Amino acid sequence: MTATTPPITVPGDKSIAHRALILAALAQGESRLRNVPAGLDVRSTQRALRALGVRITEDGGAIVVSGSGGALVAPGEPVDCGNSGTTIRLLAGVLATRALTATLDGDASLRARPMRRIAQPLEAFGARIALTAYGTAPFAVHGNGEARGADVEIVVPSAQVKSAVLFAALNAHGRTRVTGQLATRDHTERLFRAYGVACEVAADAIVLDGPQVPRACEFDVPGDLSSAAFLLAAAAVVPGARAVVEDVGLNPTRIAFLDVLRRFGAQVEVVAPSGFADEPRGRVEVHGAPLRAIVVEPGEVPGLIDELPLVGVIGAFARGTTVVTGAAELRVKESDRIETFARAARAIGVEVETFADGFAVHGPARFRDGSVVTAGDHRIAMAFAVAARAAGIDVRLDDPECVAVSFPGFAGALERVA
Ligand code: S3P
Repeated sequence: MTATTPPITVPGDKSIAHRALILAALAQGESRLRNVPAGLDVRSTQRALRALGVRITEDGGAIVVSGSGGALVAPGEPVDCGNSGTTIRLLAGVLATRALTATLDGDASLRARPMRRIAQPLEAFGARIALTAYGTAPFAVHGNGEARGADVEIVVPSAQVKSAVLFAALNAHGRTRVTGQLATRDHTERLFRAYGVACEVAADAIVLDGPQVPRACEFDVPGDLSSAAFLLAAAAVVPGARAVVEDVGLNPTRIAFLDVLRRFGAQVEVVAPSGFADEPRGRVEVHGAPLRAIVVEPGEVPGLIDELPLVGVIGAFARGTTVVTGAAELRVKESDRIETFARAARAIGVEVETFADGFAVHGPARFRDGSVVTAGDHRIAMAFAVAARAAGIDVRLDDPECVAVSFPGFAGALERVA
């Protein structure tokens, strides 16, 4: 590491934190979770768990969860999941096999997102999920406390769907076998191990015998590589720039973005000490260089899903045409990330084409000052803050505060990229 480059840390991993909190809430005993991110999405999970009767407190920077042992209580009113798709979908899974009814809801963005993808597989456990006519939230989950294990095929490559089914399986009697699209982030499977849940994981099937009550544990959440990605990108696109991020999660299902940076031509060094079997973590250092365009293949999309708007921004700094296809999922994220990205990019002078399932960016762009509509989407806001800083242009974001969903303090961290 260059002595003059101070390392940066980023908030704890959002995906891991949601799952660690939920498992702690279902566990027998008291769990202590460190480095739980302060972002609004993870707060939504905490608020929702409290609404289900779980005691969550703070102690010296750790989040302390008094496990319910699975005895959740029916909330008196709809549970507000805010902007968080992970909160609403994972909790639907938890509730599907519990003997209670709860209504889950969220903000306008969350209310527009597709929920049939979870309702359908969860019905295999005998749960009834009453979606709106559009297949969206708010919805009531009428859980089945007598659920039997089920054979479930996952047809959408979504870790949220896979995890919802696994959380349902925890309280079903007998064997659940999950097959289909399993090659997505595997934090649920890894955290099961940390919480003493027995579960067989193979490439073509995950098998869990229920019911099982997780065992309380102590867990230190690594930094969120999907947040670090914005800082690493800010360095990658400027020859001579550097960013060093310490103590960031390096789970193999989450690091595809580092390979993408290398393919663009940036220099990427990873130091991952051993001894973190559950969730590997370490330091990433990126040096900027003149970049050349890349093609992201459909098969790479699940491993890069949250980074794709940022890949588009990096493409604007690279020579040639950067192409992303097979990414129709982007249309049902916190915003339609194909349209939001393209509109924002054009607003600052970037030439972009859009497809039903992706986009092409022609670089290097002739950047100009402009106003960006974020659609309240944290990852769009951060991607264009990176573009502004790296291109030295003035970008007015209509809603800069939306970064608080995943990365409060983002602006300060971006300033620290050398
Ligand atoms: C997540 C899975 C991904 C990702 C989201 C977090 C998770 O969503 O986009 O930010 O924690 O499981 P999908 O499961 O919809 O792909």
